[in-house]
Amino acid sequence: MVTRRPLIAGNWKMNFDHLRAVAFVQKIAWTLNDAKFPLTEVEVAVFPPFTDIRSVQTLIESDSLSFSFGAQDVSPFDSGAYTGDISGEFLKRLNCRYVIIGHSERRQGHHETDEQVTAKTKAALKHGLVPVICVGETSDDLEEFGASAVPVTQLRAVLSELSAESEFVVAYEPVWAIGSGQAATPAQAQHVCAALRTVIAEEISTESAEASRILYGGSVKSGNIASFMREKDVDGALVGGASLDAEEFAKIVQFPRHVIA
Ligand code: 13P
Repeated sequence: MVTRRPLIAGNWKMNFDHLRAVAFVQKIAWTLNDAKFPLTEVEVAVFPPFTDIRSVQTLIESDSLSFSFGAQDVSPFDSGAYTGDISGEFLKRLNCRYVIIGHSERRQGHHETDEQVTAKTKAALKHGLVPVICVGETSDDLEEFGASAVPVTQLRAVLSELSAESEFVVAYEPVWAIGSGQAATPAQAQHVCAALRTVIAEEISTESAEASRILYGGSVKSGNIASFMREKDVDGALVGGASLDAEEFAKIVQFPRHVIA
């Protein structure tokens, strides 16, 4: 049986300029160091705005910090006349490991379709980045179709186009739980994450379903992370608001201490 290393990921969204980004990453590092929490059992990743990535990379690499980092979006294209877009090739040159794709704020605010999410996922994989594929239902979807129907359809649309060896992370983020303070219950998160794992098995392979990490996102805090992490199919969290507070984010990262307690 494969053990999946938990991933706690901070999506900063459009917060922190590059100077604040550097101070913030240092603060998380000091806080975890003071708490004597080794970053062996949990992977920590930060997703700063594009303009911060070079500074965050320089800090992480020069101080040998055990953090991964990535971008919040990527162009489906390699280069050319795409004003304002950022190529996966550029992100890879900055040593990004991950890129978030299809966040609901992009699906809604930028009208991104499943086709675009698929094209961006393929672009990420082509450039050696691990896509964090975001799926989730709105409150209307929840009422009309139940919790898992929309996320399952969104994930199937992408995975049906990928090859068997693709490495990816899935993030289940119910839109109604994002920034609302109203997280899903652990049982709700488990139900949908289990359905998403079945999609991975059907569209990619059972090995990929065993190995791929599925995150929950939506009003995750230090007070509820342990309850999500107790669920069998929840392998981590994609954290928004609470990832902007170093003390709080460091507490979330230390969830194993709460799970065991
Ligand atoms: P909150 O943690 O602020 O609800 O945001 C979740 C999110 O959108 C992470 O991508």
